[in-house]
Amino acid sequence: MAEVRQRAKAADPTIAPSEPPSSKPIKKSSGFGVTDILRILGGILLLNAALSYFVTSSSLTWGWRPWYSKPGVVASWLKGPVYLNDLELLAYNGRDPSKPVYVALNGTIYDVSAGRHVYGPGGSYSFFAGRDATRAFITGCFQEDLTPDIRGAELTYIPVDDDNPSKAEAKLRRERDTRFAKKRVQDTIEGWSKMFRGEGGKDYFEVGKVKRIEGWMEKLPKRELCEQAQKQRPKRKA
Ligand SMILES: *[C@@H]1O[C@H](CO)[C@@H](O)[C@H](O)[C@H]1NC(C)=O
Repeated sequence: MAEVRQRAKAADPTIAPSEPPSSKPIKKSSGFGVTDILRILGGILLLNAALSYFVTSSSLTWGWRPWYSKPGVVASWLKGPVYLNDLELLAYNGRDPSKPVYVALNGTIYDVSAGRHVYGPGGSYSFFAGRDATRAFITGCFQEDLTPDIRGAELTYIPVDDDNPSKAEAKLRRERDTRFAKKRVQDTIEGWSKMFRGEGGKDYFEVGKVKRIEGWMEKLPKRELCEQAQKQRPKRKA
């Protein structure tokens, strides 16, 4: 009963407040609240999207699309990774329209179905489809080098001597050049891998690995550097 009475009292408008309203510590608005910040952020985002659309003429996000907005990526993630040997991989060269198109690089398999016109039959890069042709990515020999065996491919980047160096000098150069060239091979592979992972804006994505036996590379016959790459080796500047 007492409680009810008290509440009624508090709500009674005829009862004057204990303090005049003016002396109450008014929560002074700082003139810049959370809403203002949100409003500014929203404005920036809108402007950014508009600018992106203006520049790219199609994308509101500068061409960036999160992985979850790509249906293929989600589907392959749900299915789990693909493990194929080099022979099984050939079935994904695009000739079977019911199968995705795969390209492998350095033992990793990528789905490039979004580029079926490029990697599928008749496409300008159809020779890459259904196989791991890492060596060709380095040497540029798209006929002879459709193999994952990259041994010696670094020669592509090693300058040709035309100044008859001494044996010792030649050895020194070879060691230094090989180190740089092998680094370049890795950089080249990494660059293409990025593209196949879809980092360049293409709808390609990684799906799995090529199954190979231990020490597979050493079991293959060693290759010479293909003719075209040999011809295009840089000349050493004096
Ligand atoms: C290529 O594969 C080899 C062997 O698996 C690995 O050591 C190397 O880091 C890979 N290179 C790149 C650029 O991913």
